[in-house]
Amino acid sequence: MVERRRLVAGNWKMNGRKAGGVALARDLAERCTSAEALPAEVVVCPPATLIWPVAEAVAGSPLLVGGQDCHAAETGAFTGSVAAAMLAEAGCQYVIVGHSERRRDHGETNADVAAKGRAAVAAGMAPIVCIGESADERDRGEAVAVVCAQLTASLDGLLDRKPTSIRPVVAYEPIWAIGTGRSATPGEIAEMHARIRAHLAVLGGDAQAMRILYGGSVNAGNAAEILALSDVDGALVGGASLKSGDFWCIVTAIS
Ligand code: 13P
Repeated sequence: MVERRRLVAGNWKMNGRKAGGVALARDLAERCTSAEALPAEVVVCPPATLIWPVAEAVAGSPLLVGGQDCHAAETGAFTGSVAAAMLAEAGCQYVIVGHSERRRDHGETNADVAAKGRAAVAAGMAPIVCIGESADERDRGEAVAVVCAQLTASLDGLLDRKPTSIRPVVAYEPIWAIGTGRSATPGEIAEMHARIRAHLAVLGGDAQAMRILYGGSVNAGNAAEILALSDVDGALVGGASLKSGDFWCIVTAIS
C-alpha cells in the first residue's frame, strides 16, 4: 500500500496585493514551521505577480508555492502568458491547470489542459489537474461520465509510471460547489473520488499513489468530515484560503 501524503492547497485566485499576500504567506509559513507534525503538504497559489515575493518570504519553511496556470509552450509570442519554467524559476513546485474558471473564461479544452500539465512536468513541477461537472450535467446523471472523459483527455501523456516521474495531482471540483458555500455532500464526494481512482487505474496510472483533492466550498467547518473520506487526499481551497486562521483550520482538520 502506497502512502499518499496529504496535500492542502490554497488557490488565492485574483485576490491579494503584495503586502497582504506576503503577510498571509509568512503567517502560514510560521504555522507550518512550528507545527509539531505537519499533517499535509501545504501549498499557496498566489496570483502571478505575487509568486516571487511570496516564494522569497517563505523560502526555507515547509510552506510550498504553486502557480494558478501556465502556458503549454516554453517561450514565444504569447502576450500575457507565463511559461511553466518561469513559475518554477520563481519558486513554484506545483501549478494548477484546467481550473473550471479558466476552462470557462479562456475556453481551455482538455487537450490544452493536458499540454499545460506536460509543460509543468517538463519544468519540474507537479500539475494539479482540475476536473468537475456542471450542475446541469449532474442533474442529467452525467457527472461520472463527464468527469471520466475529462480525466482521460486532461491527463493525456501525464501517467508515465516510471518511479522518477512527477505524478500529477487530480482535483475534483464540481463547478456548482465552487464559491457557492454549498460543498458536495460527503456521499457525493466519496462516490466520485472512488470512481476517479478506479478510472485512473483504467488509464494506466499509478492510481493508488496518485492524490485526489476535493475542492468546492471547503471551509473550517466542513473540512474534517470531507478530509476523513478514504479516497480524499486533500483539498483545493478557494475563499477560505485567504484567511490564515481559516486555512490553517482546514490543514489541521486532517486527523
Ligand atoms: P471555493 O473554496 O471558494 O469554493 O473555491 C474552490 C476553488 O475553486 C479552488 O480552486
